[in-house]
Amino acid sequence: MVGSVEQTKFLLDESQLPRRWYNVVADMPNPPQPVLHPGTGDPVGPDDLAPLFPMALILQEVSEEAEIAIPEEILDIYSLWRPTPLYRARRLEQAVGTKSRIFYKYEGVSPPGSHKPNTAVAQAYYNKQEGRTRLATETGAGQWGSALAFACKLIGLECKVYMVRISYEQKPFRRSMIQLWGAEIVASPSRDTQSGRAILEEFPDTPGSLGIAISEGVEDAAQRDDSSYSLGSVLNHVLLHQTVIGQEAIAQMEMAGAFPDVVIGCVGGGSNFAGLAFPFIREKIAGCDIDVLACEPAACPTLTRGLFAYDFGATSKLTPLVPMHTLRHDFVPAPIHAGGLRYHGVAPLISQLVKDGLIRAEAYVQSDVFASAIVFANTEGIIPAPESSHAIHGALKAARQADEAAEERTILFNLSGHGHFDMAAYDNYLAGKLEDVALDEQEIERALRAIEGLPTPA
Ligand SMILES: Cc1ncc(COP(=O)(O)O)c(C=O)c1O
Repeated sequence: MVGSVEQTKFLLDESQLPRRWYNVVADMPNPPQPVLHPGTGDPVGPDDLAPLFPMALILQEVSEEAEIAIPEEILDIYSLWRPTPLYRARRLEQAVGTKSRIFYKYEGVSPPGSHKPNTAVAQAYYNKQEGRTRLATETGAGQWGSALAFACKLIGLECKVYMVRISYEQKPFRRSMIQLWGAEIVASPSRDTQSGRAILEEFPDTPGSLGIAISEGVEDAAQRDDSSYSLGSVLNHVLLHQTVIGQEAIAQMEMAGAFPDVVIGCVGGGSNFAGLAFPFIREKIAGCDIDVLACEPAACPTLTRGLFAYDFGATSKLTPLVPMHTLRHDFVPAPIHAGGLRYHGVAPLISQLVKDGLIRAEAYVQSDVFASAIVFANTEGIIPAPESSHAIHGALKAARQADEAAEERTILFNLSGHGHFDMAAYDNYLAGKLEDVALDEQEIERALRAIEGLPTPA
């Protein structure tokens, strides 16, 4: 039944691919607070960022324009997998017996298997335009590293990936994908950088963290004229590139004759969540009543238990000071399977919107998240990435709460990627070997005390 809520898949034509990215900064009630130079404490300007990023991305980072045109070459590559499908999860609804309607936007159809190439392609494109020939980056679970390797191959750049050690060991086939697309990859901390060697000396058995791997990528790029640094999340321009997701979803929900009461995504650095949520937050700021929910792991509860403070983006303190919810730059989260959510901070745009009450957050333990992932896989068929499974769990919880309140809600979540390279995690879950890690209060207090010396945002 085309055009009615009985349909399962809502598909846009290639010609309906959004031609502009949406910049939430233009509509935020309180603009994001400035990023500060760690030495001087002054706001960072474009020139400070020039050794690491091409000017086109720096200008997007500080832009206040509501919309930014997407270059044709990027649209051309996006069309390999975009627009992505929106599904009505009717089998899931039936299995859990909810009266609510659950929809999900599926980003796992991209060649590397997640939302990450939406920004990887854009970043590789602008770097190539400005004459850089090589990108250095970090990766957690490997989704970002494989997306950037893929984008660099298509655009014609070299790529070096520092992959968090625990994921390097847990996900060998992500490593192979990165190599297949021609990038160089090492486990982080590595012996290739000063910051990596320093960590290895002090903590030879560390599982690594995104904060450490970012330090290595930044150091690598800062030391070479041919290279830029590329980040897969957190920064304004990365979130901007992801907004094709939410713009498509608005058009697809319209096709379904529906509009969400609840919009949900998992949050690591925040890019897939922002990609889906920001175009809806535009509607929320304009007066629509939407509950926007960010889902994070209890082992790394940045938004729910962190402090809104100025902190470094990476362990080595080589980055500017960023106003964000943080567990502190030297925090090494427990080695949960959602490697892409093991980041001590979060995007400043999301932090500000949480602070202003436009987004709320919840944290879940991984055994609950995997239980929801299994229900999803057994009804909708797709095996979800452990990161994305936090959003599935959030959606099922929202549906349960609606049923308890005798309400019928329309719930939309982002399924940011598939879990085809996360089967070791599923094996562990099925064998009953998954450990739940919730951060203890002492660890939070230690982290928060240590932030006290840094500048405080307003
Ligand atoms: C499938 C998937 N979803 C979500 C994330 C979290 O990143 P972000 O919060 O930037 O979307 C990752 C990160 O690696 C990922 O691989």
